[in-house]
Amino acid sequence: MRIFSGIQPTGRKHLGNYLGAIRQYVDSQERGEAILCIVDLHATTVAYEPAQLRERTLDTAAILLAAGLEPERCILFRQGDVAEHTELCWLLCSVTALGELNRMHQFRDKSAAQRELVSAGLLFYPVLQAADVLAYRAHEVPVGEDQREHLELMRDVAGRFNARYGEGLLVVPEHRIPTVAARVRDLQEPERKMSTTGGSEQGTLYVLDEPDAIERKFKRAVTDSGTEIVRALDKPGVTNLIEIAAAVRGVAPEAVEAELARARGYGDLKQAVSHAVVEGLAPVRERYVQLREDEAALEATLAAGAERARAIARETLADVREAMGVGPPRAR
Ligand code: TRP
Repeated sequence: MRIFSGIQPTGRKHLGNYLGAIRQYVDSQERGEAILCIVDLHATTVAYEPAQLRERTLDTAAILLAAGLEPERCILFRQGDVAEHTELCWLLCSVTALGELNRMHQFRDKSAAQRELVSAGLLFYPVLQAADVLAYRAHEVPVGEDQREHLELMRDVAGRFNARYGEGLLVVPEHRIPTVAARVRDLQEPERKMSTTGGSEQGTLYVLDEPDAIERKFKRAVTDSGTEIVRALDKPGVTNLIEIAAAVRGVAPEAVEAELARARGYGDLKQAVSHAVVEGLAPVRERYVQLREDEAALEATLAAGAERARAIARETLADVREAMGVGPPRAR
């Protein structure tokens, strides 16, 4: 089985990204052939700083490696290094409906947020995303609930492409949504998901936060009325802390509740979750610092990954061009 995922090159990954997505990528190395792409081309669809994009891409590569991706066991690369993505994006446009792109929620939200220019890139974002996955004929895409529309579009485009140009040319991929850990909530406003945009600094826990920052944020985390340490609908704050502790340690939330059944109050819960997160993230942060220093090594890792990615994507593109009547007939 081939598993493909794309990750935005933003430097500051938070605990929700880590538990919901990054750890899922690391696990996908066990389940099949994992292909991980840092999507620098997607990052150019909104206002951005070129020099910063390059830095953020390396930050992201270092975080992924620090979290446990092994370049020998997966393919980790930068989208912009493999030109097949942009070529396939264009070719897929022939079977993509403008109306569908126009209706995408992320396009609507992001275009409303742009101050200067709503780029055409923003509209085509989902087509490039479809090309990312379809170029590798991947079977599975492990990404969050927020990507549902993009995944559906991708499946539609693949299906329509096959119907128009030849059955079996592209693989229609499955969406795999991470479970429990995807629900990490803001520590200050547990009604909302933890997020880099819109959350407060206090409520957002970053993978690279120092232990004392982690402790401080948990100490100030919002809890609920009552004293019982159990998950409940009317206890969003407490539920979040229990689920975070469980996810970081890789145990069931029931186990955390059982351990804390005789605790004196929410202070004990905060201490327990804070301890678990510090323990879980410290090795990642330490490895990150080491890896991030050596930019030449990071670039070499990405270049080697791109080489292997290109070898796969090239085959798909040759089939697609042939089927579409683009370029000369294929030499046999
Ligand atoms: N749009 C995805 C996000 O914002 C990133 C992404 C780009 C992606 N290409 C992809 C995810 C391909 C999965 C597969 O998170």
